[in-house]
Amino acid sequence: MFSVAIDGPAGAGKSSVAKAAAQELGFVYVDTGALYRTVALYLLRHGINPKDSEAVEPVLSEIQVDLEHTSEGQKMFLCGEDVTGLIRTPEVSMAASDCSALPVVRAFLLDLQRDLARRNNVLMDGRDIGSVVLPNAELKIFLTASPEERAKRRMLQLQEAGNPADFETILKDIQQRDYQDSHRAAAPLKQAEDAVLLDTTEIDLQQSVKVLLELVKERRGA
Ligand code: DC
Repeated sequence: MFSVAIDGPAGAGKSSVAKAAAQELGFVYVDTGALYRTVALYLLRHGINPKDSEAVEPVLSEIQVDLEHTSEGQKMFLCGEDVTGLIRTPEVSMAASDCSALPVVRAFLLDLQRDLARRNNVLMDGRDIGSVVLPNAELKIFLTASPEERAKRRMLQLQEAGNPADFETILKDIQQRDYQDSHRAAAPLKQAEDAVLLDTTEIDLQQSVKVLLELVKERRGA
């Protein structure tokens, strides 16, 4: 199996780049943020503080997280319910960032992620894929862009989806999540030593995908 680990901050375009490249390569695209979001949704629904490890730990055994890869993309199921659309709200984003800082939650989702990479050629995106989940991935990419550029892209996405939001609010949200994700003790967001840095501030989606595909080709040939 061939694994590509793609890590980077929120809104850097990891999922768009990984999705397009996976289609081109015939690999499975795994969005690991969706796993944390699904756990977060359960916690919000049950009134459990996503920062409180002691409250979260006992309920993890009740949380059944499944994912399905379809032609429309990755679907997420929480205890059998399709929650694919429900996990994309700002409230769930923040709760996902909160609960992802808990080592118990990270441990809970680790095997599921590793198992997917054992059974498929994957392009897996997240925050700690190259550093923790798949330390032996054949290719590791750290995909980033400036916070302002990421906020601009998110604003356009939201506009297109009919949910316009203010640039400053989005930028603040991105900066807060960047800080939380990179300052937590458990598996913080950081570039793995052997990861290739791909800064997309100045390049578009197509160019980013092209760079990624060339890197995969190079490593597969090696
Ligand atoms: O990629 P995303 O924005 O959907 O991720 C939601 C949150 O989950 C993010 O704030 C950090 C966390 N996360 C993580 O800690 N590790 C991962 N591999 C993926 C996401």
